Amino acid sequence: MAVVPYKEKESGKKEQVAEMFNNISHRYDFLNHFLSLGIDILWRKKAVKLLQADQPKQILDVATGTGDFALEALSLNPDRIVGVDISAGMLEMGKVKMKKKGVDHIIDMQMGDSEKLLFDDNTFDATIVAFGVRNFENLKKGLSDMHRVVKPGGKTVIIEFSRPRRFPMKQLYNFYFKSILPIIGKLISKDQSAYTYLPESVDAFPDGQDFLDILSEVGYKKIECRPLTFGISSIYIGQK
Ligand SMILES: C[S@@+](CC[C@H](N)C(=O)[O-])C[C@H]1O[C@@H](n2cnc3c(N)ncnc32)[C@H](O)[C@@H]1O
Repeated sequence: MAVVPYKEKESGKKEQVAEMFNNISHRYDFLNHFLSLGIDILWRKKAVKLLQADQPKQILDVATGTGDFALEALSLNPDRIVGVDISAGMLEMGKVKMKKKGVDHIIDMQMGDSEKLLFDDNTFDATIVAFGVRNFENLKKGLSDMHRVVKPGGKTVIIEFSRPRRFPMKQLYNFYFKSILPIIGKLISKDQSAYTYLPESVDAFPDGQDFLDILSEVGYKKIECRPLTFGISSIYIGQK
């Protein structure tokens, strides 16, 4: 059984995830930085640096949300970044942000499903995704499609939460993620489920070696996992 935000509803994971992000889109950026104490910004910076040597000119940011990973990727000096997401609410917030920052001519935010990307094979120099893959309804399908649209030799860089395994980080993480974060998240976002879905979806996610195995299965080579901040998150890299 897939972990979904609204267990009482009969709709599928994709529909529920889009609904949840629509509900919290107005508070997403604030909550993200507040609940992570700004560490999420450092994680995105670190991930983008891994593409520095490749100088990708055409980048696809899957599950772009409000576009923070796409914004960070501007440091690579690309010609174009396409951001796709299934949540109209998140995209709307993102589009306003891009316009305000005067980068909407480089970052193109579009409605799009990671499991059915509307791009030809071998279109992008790099594909990236931050905190998105855990929300995919069909993880392998999403990763295969990211692999399909990246050019041969191009890289995919993924950031996702993972579970710290060691004392005392494991205990601290569990306390914060399962007791503190759902209360603050619910109060500020006004969504009943979004911040209980977060730890539940992290628990159900195949992190570390399990994720590397899936990357390899869908065709990636030179796969690598780099744990961040005591293993709370990880960067995964694969090459086509
Ligand atoms: C936690 S947010 C991450 C947003 C952004 N990447 C960031 O770093 O802040 C996850 C996003 O994944 C999107 N998402 C989930 N499943 C998706 C899918 N199948 N295709 C495209 N986007 C998806 C959600 O709508 C949401 O905006």
